[in-house]
Amino acid sequence: MSDELTNSQLGAMAYDPAPESASIARIKPAYGLFINGEFSDPSSHEAFVTLNPATEEPLASVAQASTADVDRAVYAARRAYDTVWSKTTGAERSKYLFRIARIIQERSRELAVVETLDNGKPIRESRDIDIPLAAAHFFYYAGWADKLDHAGFGPDPKPLGVAGQIIPWNFPLLMAAWKLAPALAAGNTCVLKPAETTPLSALILAEILQQAELPEGVVNIITGDGSTGAALVDHPGVDKIAFTGSTEVGRLIQQRVATSHKHLTLELGGKGANIVFEDAPIDEMIEGIIDGIFFNQGHVCCAGSRLLVQESVADDVLRRLIRRVDQLRVGDPLDKNTDVGAINSAAQLARIKELTAYGEEEGATRYTSTCSLPDKGYWFAPTVFADVSQSHRIAREEIFGPVLSVLTFRTPEEAVAKANNTNYGLACGVWSEKGSRTLWVAERLRAGVVWANTYNRFDPTSPFGGVRESGFGREGGRHGLEAYLNV
Ligand code: NAI
Ligand code: MG
Repeated sequence: MSDELTNSQLGAMAYDPAPESASIARIKPAYGLFINGEFSDPSSHEAFVTLNPATEEPLASVAQASTADVDRAVYAARRAYDTVWSKTTGAERSKYLFRIARIIQERSRELAVVETLDNGKPIRESRDIDIPLAAAHFFYYAGWADKLDHAGFGPDPKPLGVAGQIIPWNFPLLMAAWKLAPALAAGNTCVLKPAETTPLSALILAEILQQAELPEGVVNIITGDGSTGAALVDHPGVDKIAFTGSTEVGRLIQQRVATSHKHLTLELGGKGANIVFEDAPIDEMIEGIIDGIFFNQGHVCCAGSRLLVQESVADDVLRRLIRRVDQLRVGDPLDKNTDVGAINSAAQLARIKELTAYGEEEGATRYTSTCSLPDKGYWFAPTVFADVSQSHRIAREEIFGPVLSVLTFRTPEEAVAKANNTNYGLACGVWSEKGSRTLWVAERLRAGVVWANTYNRFDPTSPFGGVRESGFGREGGRHGLEAYLNV
């Protein structure tokens, strides 16, 4: 493709619409709370609506769990732990996890459409990444359930008991899988609270648990807002809290459980740096940067939201990057050709707009994609800021949207110093042909994950998690079991 191809020329070669059918989702008009193996009304009879962020149309009414409902769910989980699950052998637990994994695969098309409708992410991502990875997590931990003796935590590691799990809206089913699969494999029972803007795939998962004939009460799924989450955190019958979400709420939760017996793992925000050296393979690197920040609309805790590029190649990289950003197809998330979907909520869109306004105010140079945005729904055009300095808010704060901040460096030492100049520490990427340099840099980065010549690679066998204000504890891999064992 010529360097000079303009956006209007590209328009002439536009793809025809290729929409997936929304009717595959079969969403019910209303959902109750999944407690003790069945759906029931919340005690308050209160409900809220979850929207399709691409159209602002309501999808379903969802129950708002009160403190009394949280109590009922924790009680069900405790009874299931005492009477059934703690007496179930690892091989039996493994059988249930394999079943859940297989049913997720069987219902994957339906789950992908539900996820895209409720969250706004492109169907290409929910179909090829979220749902297959969720199944893969259950498969992976199914394999561990009867081998805990060999996981490196002593001869007979014990579960913690009842786990309270609170998840965010950016990868709804995948985060549910990250939380439930290792907890169940290790022998815990669970109360899971999905995020208020994306509860539907977790409620379909509740149906899948029924299909798999998982004993009642082993997993309870309760919907609600932050107050439901807070009631779960404070419940004295919970032995472990696992949270993924904002650093702000994570901090609050840490204070609340500090004086209790509860175990805690936190997976919080990030401000990941993608570090590009002058010898990096240019085309792969451009795609890696694009994927690092525009995957899932940038609603990714480990997003490569800062690009650190070596000064000698900075102009060339920026030029290619801006051209590529302009080619991203933004729009209908159900269209199989869409690259960037809708922003998840009005609140998140407002936050992105607020932070990007600071970018211009503080003197950075803004490049915004010339794509046209739909009239209805929550949308933000992919944006790149150049001439960013380390003191700028867009270089320090998590924007959690399709916005990249570009900074430059001259030496590897400077790259490391700038990459580490953040309160966060979740993920970084290093791009270079030279292995010794990549290792030298990786060793010095303060981040839980470092990718080399790639970005946003997820695999159930590989531990994921942060340092500093990005949280603590690992999910995935053998390490992910440790978070649910008394070791
Ligand atoms: P949030 O942290 O408020 O929400 C995450 C989950 O925590 C939701 O299920 C929510 O209902 C629950 N929650 C809220 N308040 C709670 C409380 N006091 N106690 C227990 N649970 C509570 O995040 P929000 O408001 O949706 O997003 C704000 C920002 O947080 C984003 O702009 C982004 O920067 C960051 N974020 C990071 C995520 C990550 O993956 N690390 C995921 C979501 C948001
Ligand atoms: Mg929604």
